[in-house]
Amino acid sequence: VGEGRLAELPRIVDAVVDAIGDRPVRAPDAAARPPLVPALREADLTGRRIVVTAGGTREAIDPVRYLGNRSTGKMGAALTAAALDRGAEVTVVAGALEVPLPEGARVIRVESTEEMAAALREAMGLDAAASVDALVMAAAVADFRPAQRAGQKLARDGALTLQLEATPDVLAGVAAEVRRLPAPHRPVLVGFAAETGSLERAAGKLAAKGVDLLVANDVAEAGSGFGTDTNRVTILDAAGGRDELPLLTKREVADRILDRVARALDDRNEPAQTVGSTHGRAAR
Ligand code: CTP
Repeated sequence: VGEGRLAELPRIVDAVVDAIGDRPVRAPDAAARPPLVPALREADLTGRRIVVTAGGTREAIDPVRYLGNRSTGKMGAALTAAALDRGAEVTVVAGALEVPLPEGARVIRVESTEEMAAALREAMGLDAAASVDALVMAAAVADFRPAQRAGQKLARDGALTLQLEATPDVLAGVAAEVRRLPAPHRPVLVGFAAETGSLERAAGKLAAKGVDLLVANDVAEAGSGFGTDTNRVTILDAAGGRDELPLLTKREVADRILDRVARALDDRNEPAQTVGSTHGRAAR
């Protein structure tokens, strides 16, 4: 009785209907909805060293112009924030970004694909053979660069034909070196695949690049790809698994990827942890 008493259910329902009327409860356009509050993850990456690449690389044509792409760095920034929140020590190798990176990560800024490759070697400790635990290659690496870079600004006198050459595949290069490390020290490698129209090339990319996980998305689809706060991705793994995720915020996509990375690292370290012990995976 009295003011503190919970109202009867029909009265609550009537009040809700009055408040909402016949408006839709959920905006039909996913991009117009407020971001989902990410599910809290435990600090399951504590002590892990993770390298994230973010943003796009740029290839100079002359001292003024460059070839670039539409990457804003949102996916890389979301991965960085998620990894930090889960206790990891994070290094970001960042190309051109339109968003700030979260506080707390070590950041190495680069411009070209070649600079990204060199910074990645350093960040991953490949030269020192002291590798990190995981690499998540979210950067949109330029695929082509001018075969020659003009030392001086090119004059606008008539048409200009540029001869382009393919850039080296940074991720495939890292994967080739990582394969030479002993299994317990081999970092988990995650690549992305930006596709348009269909994801059928993605499985081939996973194999060609030699990564453990490949996150494929159709960048032409509404709500996915460059500059959006959401993404619909399919995570492929080296064992042939295929996880088609719904449209999620980039932060939630980041956490789903890191769920897989954390699991792969636990599996990688399992033999060492279980020798002479009964506390295997089932005990966790
Ligand atoms: N990548 C890379 N070096 C390149 C090109 C791409 O390391 N020169 C990386 C990207 O960061 C991404 C993955 O490889 O993690 C796949 O990139 P994507 O652009 O989808 O594939 P490409 O190999 O460039 O193939 P294509 O352009 O034919 O789709």
